[in-house]
Amino acid sequence: MRAKTPSESRTVMTDLVLPSETNPLNNLFGGELLARMDRAASISARRHSRRITVTASVNHVAFNRAVPLGSVVTVEAAVSRAFNTSMEIFIDVWIEDRFTGERSKANEAIYTFVAVDDTGKPTEVPPLEPETDLEKERFAAALRRKQLSLVLAGKLKPSDATELKALFTS
Ligand SMILES: CC(C)(COP(=O)(O)OP(=O)(O)OC[C@H]1O[C@@H](n2cnc3c(N)ncnc32)[C@H](O)[C@@H]1OP(=O)(O)O)[C@@H](O)C(=O)NCCC(=O)NCCS
Repeated sequence: MRAKTPSESRTVMTDLVLPSETNPLNNLFGGELLARMDRAASISARRHSRRITVTASVNHVAFNRAVPLGSVVTVEAAVSRAFNTSMEIFIDVWIEDRFTGERSKANEAIYTFVAVDDTGKPTEVPPLEPETDLEKERFAAALRRKQLSLVLAGKLKPSDATELKALFTS
């Protein structure tokens, strides 16, 4: 299978924050942001694999900044590493200043998607070839994150998480 670059799966979704999507402090409801990120990540995984894809795990979410009512929010997703049938998707969330138009990073998340066939059976995906320094950095750390996610899910013994363990011993 031909290797693909992260830019081939990059997915950018921009939308407003409406009153029905906010909490009592008039900030975007966390679950609404999770859903927006899941949608963008799903498109990204599909663009990389050209298969049906399902969310296998939400590995990390950081709600670093509240997103106020009326904000213009951009969710940007791209595959950061492809394994055998699974893909790590890195999602950056930006908000646009109402007056200057300047974009600033609000949140980020990391999801795992799995490509499946028509019967729901995991199926192989193309490898990923990172290009930029940031893409290479995210690619390099993705194996440790996969091992951590599998350990937490009870699908990998901590003793078998070689690269993850090396992070704490080196
Ligand atoms: C995700 C799913 C396809 C995995 O099926 P499975 O039978 O566990 O398959 P496997 O054990 O062979 O795992 C498939 C891949 O997913 C990875 N994976 C499974 N669980 C994972 C987790 N918690 N974190 C990271 N990766 C995970 C495996 O490492 C494997 O990756 P690889 O082939 O690239 O090495 C299956 O659990 C499923 O269909 N879940 C429901 C998905 C869904 O409906 N999502 C929407 C939520 S409402």
